[in-house]
Amino acid sequence: MNTDVLNATPRTVSMPTDTGWWRDAVIYQVYVRSFADGSGDGTGDLAGVRDRLGYLKELGVDAIWFTPWYPSPLADGGYDVQDYRDIDPRFGTLAEAEQLIEEALALGIRTIIDIVPNHISDQHEWFQQALAAGPGSPERARFWFHPGRGENGDEMPTDWVSSFQGSTWTRTTNPDGTPGEWYLHLFTREQPDLNWNHPDVRREHEDILRFWFDRGVAGVRIDSAAMPVKDAALPSLPKGTAAPGDHPHIDRDELHDIYRDWRAVADEYEGERVLVGEVWLDDAERFARYLRSDEMHTAFNFDFMTQPWNAAAMRASITRTLAEHEPIGAPATWVLSNHDITRPVTRYGRADSGFAFLRKRFGTPTDIARGTQRARAAALLVAALPGSLYIYQGDELGLPEVELPREVIQDPMHFRSEGVDPGRDGCRVPLPWSGTSAPYGFGGTAWLPQPADWSTYTVEAQRSDPTSMLNLYRQAIALRRSQADFATGELEWLELGADIIAFHRGDNLISITNLSATPVPLPAHHEVLLSSAPLGGVLPPDSTVWLALRESPERSDGAQQ
Ligand code: NOJ
Repeated sequence: MNTDVLNATPRTVSMPTDTGWWRDAVIYQVYVRSFADGSGDGTGDLAGVRDRLGYLKELGVDAIWFTPWYPSPLADGGYDVQDYRDIDPRFGTLAEAEQLIEEALALGIRTIIDIVPNHISDQHEWFQQALAAGPGSPERARFWFHPGRGENGDEMPTDWVSSFQGSTWTRTTNPDGTPGEWYLHLFTREQPDLNWNHPDVRREHEDILRFWFDRGVAGVRIDSAAMPVKDAALPSLPKGTAAPGDHPHIDRDELHDIYRDWRAVADEYEGERVLVGEVWLDDAERFARYLRSDEMHTAFNFDFMTQPWNAAAMRASITRTLAEHEPIGAPATWVLSNHDITRPVTRYGRADSGFAFLRKRFGTPTDIARGTQRARAAALLVAALPGSLYIYQGDELGLPEVELPREVIQDPMHFRSEGVDPGRDGCRVPLPWSGTSAPYGFGGTAWLPQPADWSTYTVEAQRSDPTSMLNLYRQAIALRRSQADFATGELEWLELGADIIAFHRGDNLISITNLSATPVPLPAHHEVLLSSAPLGGVLPPDSTVWLALRESPERSDGAQQ
C-alpha cells in the first residue's frame, strides 16, 4: 500500500456548489490506458489527459469518469486493484492525479473515479496475507475461502457461473504442496471476491471514499454494483429465475445498507458528490431500488444500450426507463457504449445490431457507413432525452470496433471463452489525435495496434470538417447546454409513424429519429437546430433532426455554451 499518503493532508480543493449538476450532466469516460500518452511509452497516462483537458473543455463535457487508475497487474484492464490509494506508476503519481482533479475543476469539469467493491487483485496485500495466514485465519475471513466438495475436496464449493464464463473458484496450494481451500472469484482468478459481511471490508471502502472525496473527486462509479454481497450459505444456483433478492450472488437485499452508508459518506461533503452504479438487472423495480433518495444518485441504463436498431424496441426501452425512474425522482442515464461494449458505429452496422456479451464473434459482417449514419442519429437521439449522458472516449470520433489479431488481445474474456469471443479490446484501441499514420499523435507506439486507415478519424482531421462526428457531438452538447427545454422540458411523444421515434422536450424542442427505409417530411417548425445528416427538406432514413418551434430562450441557470 502507498503508506506515504496515509498521513499526508490532501490539498484543499474548492468544489463548485451548483445543485443537481448530475441530473443532466454530460459525462465523458476516459479509459486512461488508451486516451493519450504523455510519456511516450505507448500507454496512455495522466500527463496525456492533462495535456488534452482543453479538448474535453471544447467538447463541452461536465465531468470525466476515469476507469480504474490504481496500481494493478492489469489481469482485467485495471479492474484488479492492488492499492486503492495510489496511481499506477504507468499512469503517473498521486500528486499528478490531485493536480489533474484541480486543473479539470478550474475548467468546470468534475472528476468521477471508479470504485471496485466486489473484488480486489490477488496481488493486493490483503489477499497475499490471507494466502500466507492459512485456513480459519482472520485474514482469510475477508474473502470467500472454502473447502471443496467431494471426498478429497477437489470439487468446487458451488456451481456458480462466472460473468466471464468458466469457473468461479480456484484452489489454493498449502505450504507443504498439498491442495488447499478454494477461493471465490466471480470474474478472473486474479480477482478474489471480498466478503462484505466482514466489518473490515466495509470500513476500508468508506475510508477509500473519503480518501478520494478529500481530494476533490465529485463522484464514484461503482463497478459490478449488484454483485458484492453473497449468500453465506453458498447455495446452488436456483433452477430457473430466482425469487427477488434470492439469487446467491446478484442483487441481494443487504446491498442497500452498504449503499446507504456510502451515500451518508458522500453527503458529508459539500458540492454534491455522487454515486453512479453499474447495475445490470432486468427487473425494473429491483433496479429502481438502488436509486432511492438515500442510496445512489444514478445508475447506468444498459437496457437502452443493448437494444437493436429498431424503433419499437428503442421507444419501448425509453418508455420503460423513464417510467421506472419517475416515481423515485431519479434521473435516467443514457449510454451508447463503454469500455466493455462493441462500438456503436460497428454494432449498428450489423444485421444483429443489439448487444449481448455472449453473442460477440470474430468476422461478423459489418456495414460501417450505415453504422456510422445510425450512430450519428443515435447520438442526437440520446442527447435529447431527459437525464445524464455518458460518452465513451472515441465514440465522439465515430471510431469503429477494431478486430484485433488474436496474438495482441489481452482481455480475459477472450481467453476464458477459449478464443471464441473476441473480447473487449476492440473498443479499447488508443485514440487517434493527429497525423496520417500510427500512432496518430497518441504518443509512443500504442499498446494495442491502431488500424492503418484511421487518419480520417483523428481529432485534427475532424476539427476542420463541419460534417464530422466530432463537430456533431460538440454542437449537440452546446445545444443541450443552451436550450432551456433540454434541462427542464417534459418529454411528450409525437406519433409520426411506427418506425419513427419523435418527441417534444418542453413546448419548443422536437427530436425526430427516422428508423424507416424512406424519408420523412418534417413537421412545421421555426428552425432546424441540428441534424445528423443533410436534410434537403425531408429527414432521410437512419437520421435524427432537432427542430425548434420558435426562437429559443437561453438557459437561465448559468450553464455556459
Ligand atoms: C465491469 C467493468 O466495466 C468490466 O470492465 C470489468 O471487467 C468487470 N466489471 C469486473 O470488474
